[in-house]
Amino acid sequence: MPELMPPPLALYIHIPWCVKKCPYCDFNSHGKKNELPVAEYLAALTRDLEQDLPLVWGRSVTSVFFGGGTPSLFPGTAIGEILAMANARLRFAPDCEITLECNPGTAEHDRFASYRAAGVNRLSFGVQSFDDGCLERLGRIHNAEKARSAVKDAQDAGFDNINLDLMYALPGQSLAMALFDVEQAIALQPQHLSHYQLTLEPNTLFAAKPPTGIPDMDSAWDMQEACIARMAEAGFAQYEVSAYARDGRRCRHNLNYWTYGDYLGIGAGAHGKISSGHDGRILRRWKPKHPEAYMASAGTAAGIGGDEYVAAENRPFDYMLNALRLVDGFSLADFEVRTGLGRETIKPQLDEAVQRGWLEISGDWAKPTELGMRFANDVMGLFLA
Ligand SMILES: C[S@@+](CC[C@H](N)C(=O)[O-])C[C@H]1O[C@@H](n2cnc3c(N)ncnc32)[C@H](O)[C@@H]1O
Ligand code: SF4
Repeated sequence: MPELMPPPLALYIHIPWCVKKCPYCDFNSHGKKNELPVAEYLAALTRDLEQDLPLVWGRSVTSVFFGGGTPSLFPGTAIGEILAMANARLRFAPDCEITLECNPGTAEHDRFASYRAAGVNRLSFGVQSFDDGCLERLGRIHNAEKARSAVKDAQDAGFDNINLDLMYALPGQSLAMALFDVEQAIALQPQHLSHYQLTLEPNTLFAAKPPTGIPDMDSAWDMQEACIARMAEAGFAQYEVSAYARDGRRCRHNLNYWTYGDYLGIGAGAHGKISSGHDGRILRRWKPKHPEAYMASAGTAAGIGGDEYVAAENRPFDYMLNALRLVDGFSLADFEVRTGLGRETIKPQLDEAVQRGWLEISGDWAKPTELGMRFANDVMGLFLA
């Protein structure tokens, strides 16, 4: 392989516990039974990061993301210790974006101040809906009022970079209800919104026994269109399939994934992707999924769940799986720098996508059309090896 220019580096930290498992969720999250083993998990994260360090010597980190699971189950002191531990081993860029995912049902007022003191500068709340009936059908532990007060408490504690996760096409939801959720979210004055269509993921309770009243595809599409228009009117521009932001507030961490950047992943089931400049290889590494197995093995050979190099023929699809989610698309120069492949390797696929009306190419830029955004999976499929 030709040499690769190492792209920006991010750090993902997985916290695998929740108060209880939601019936639609296929994330690596486990309902908590007893007190969380916070100190033991922190020690495991330290061994895990130390084992990964030789992959990224000398590179600095542009964003950190605590994802879950429910990271807001950890107290601010623990989050502070994890950040200090990571910062002592990696270099955090001076303006490093540091996000923590919060379940509004676990948010206590003084915790936000301690997250801020720990260095967290962005919060992402799993609000899902402002309709108590919908929240109950989703098996959530919070109601709409709790979500509103959690966001306000976070703002009072000084957080000025907040994302709210909403889901739509929920059981029993009408178009008016989906728009109501977006309206309520906007009223809380966040800087970013994530708007996901509820999907029935395999191996979830919802997949085994789907709830009644899930809107059909056409209704879901109408909801999405109407919500996009309302969010745009309120200043939240769509920049990715499910992500909307005010000017300058796009999520740096997620943008790094979508632009095929590098990331270390530490914690149970976390995934990383690291390019090595000198030999042009791209390594994908993941960690054991179950929290107990993870804590027992972190830092040893068994603590690497798996290592896989991305072969040249698989890189176009790997890249497009991310880049084609972006409303702005990607530059062909970026494709070359990040995959180590020449643009001619994807010319037939690009030509076909253009011919089908899925992509527009102007100079160095390839941008999905509206049709291309709607059928993103089909466009990505063109690039399968
Ligand atoms: C890891 S969770 C966020 C934080 C926290 N665990 C919570 O739920 O409050 C990430 C987000 O993914 C979305 N999500 C999870 N499962 C989904 C599904 N089956 N379909 C669509 N969105 C889903 C939810 O909006 C959720 O907030
Ligand atoms: S949606 Fe969030 S709170 Fe619910 S199980 Fe998944 S990770 Fe946990």
